[in-house]
Amino acid sequence: MKRLKSFVAKILRRLLPFKYYKLVANGFIIVPSYYKSIIEDAEKYMNLSLLDSPEKDVLLMRKYAHILDKGLHRRDAEPGHSKSVYENLKLLIGKLSKTRYSKDATYIWAESKLEKYEMLQRDPKSFEPFCGEPVTSQISYENLFSLIKQRRSNRVFKERQISEDVIRHLKEVANWAASSCNKQPIQLFVTNNPDLSKKCLACCKGGTGFSDYIPSFWAFTANVRGYVWPSEMYLPYIDVSLGAQNLFLAAETFGVSGTVLSWAQKNKQEELQLKSLLSIPDDCTIVFCAVLGYPLYRYLTPIRKNVE
Ligand SMILES: Cc1cc2nc3c(=O)[nH]c(=O)nc-3n(C[C@H](O)[C@H](O)[C@H](O)COP(=O)(O)O)c2cc1C
Repeated sequence: MKRLKSFVAKILRRLLPFKYYKLVANGFIIVPSYYKSIIEDAEKYMNLSLLDSPEKDVLLMRKYAHILDKGLHRRDAEPGHSKSVYENLKLLIGKLSKTRYSKDATYIWAESKLEKYEMLQRDPKSFEPFCGEPVTSQISYENLFSLIKQRRSNRVFKERQISEDVIRHLKEVANWAASSCNKQPIQLFVTNNPDLSKKCLACCKGGTGFSDYIPSFWAFTANVRGYVWPSEMYLPYIDVSLGAQNLFLAAETFGVSGTVLSWAQKNKQEELQLKSLLSIPDDCTIVFCAVLGYPLYRYLTPIRKNVE
C-alpha cells in the first residue's frame, strides 16, 4: 500500500502543477473563506522557507549549532550522537564560508561547536563538556519590576528625534531574547524620519489617538526562511514578541517609550505599502509595528488584574 501510494505520488508530481500537487499530497480540506488571507500568507512564507538561500542557511546554521551545543554541555556526552545534525552543520558552514555571513559572530560560534563535536568523536577520553561560570544578577527584583511597571504605551510625543545610537542599542537587546532553536530571526526595520514615520503609521488600523509628530516607526519582523515545517508557523510570532519586550524595557532606560501597533487586521494594500516604505524584503513577515519616542506626557497606568 505504501509503495503504491509513493508510486502514485511520483506520477502526480510529474503530471500536476506544483500548486495542485501540494493540495493532493496534503489532502483536500474545505475552510471558510475568511481564513483565505491567513492561509495565503502561511503558504507564501512556507514556500519561501523551502527555497535555498544564504539567509536560510544562516538561520539553520544557528539551529544545528544549537542542537550540537546542547549535547556538548552534557556531562554524559558520548561520541556517536547527532551525526546527521553535525553533517548538516558542516555543510552549511562550508556553504556560508564564501558569503558575508562568514564574518558574523554566530558563524564563528557555530564553527567552534563543530570543532568541539569533532574533538569528542576523536578523543572522548580527554573531552570536557562546556560549562559556564556561575552568575548573580546585579539587578534586584524590585528594580526590574519597577522598570517593567514603568513601561507604558504613550501615544503623544515631544518633537525630539531618537538618535541612531539609541536605535542601535535597542536593536541589540531585541536579539538577546530567547529564540526558537537559537535561530535569531528578528529583523527590525526602523525610520526616525518623522514624515516617513507618519506615513507608516497611516498603514496601521490601530494608529489612532497618536500625536501629529511621530518620532520613529518600527516594523518588528521575523525572517521566515528558517521555519521549515507547518508546525512552526506560530514560532515567528513568539520569537519576535520575546525580543520586542526586551526592547521596550530597554527603551524606558533611555526615557523612550514604545507603543505596539497591531498588524493582525492589515489588508494586502497596507502590507504592500508598509513593505515598500520601509524596504522590507519578501522573506520578512511583519509580526507587529510600534511607534517609539520621548513622551510629552505619560498615559495613566491601566491597572493589572489580580493574579491570585
Ligand atoms: C499585540 C498588541 C497590539 C496592540 N495594538 C495597539 C494598537 O493598534 N494601537 C494602540 O494604540 N495600542 C495598541 N497596543 C497597546 C495596548 O493598548 C497596551 O499595551 C495596553 O492597553 C496596556 O497598556 P500599557 O502598554 O500602557 O501597559 C497593542 C498592544 C499589543 C501587545
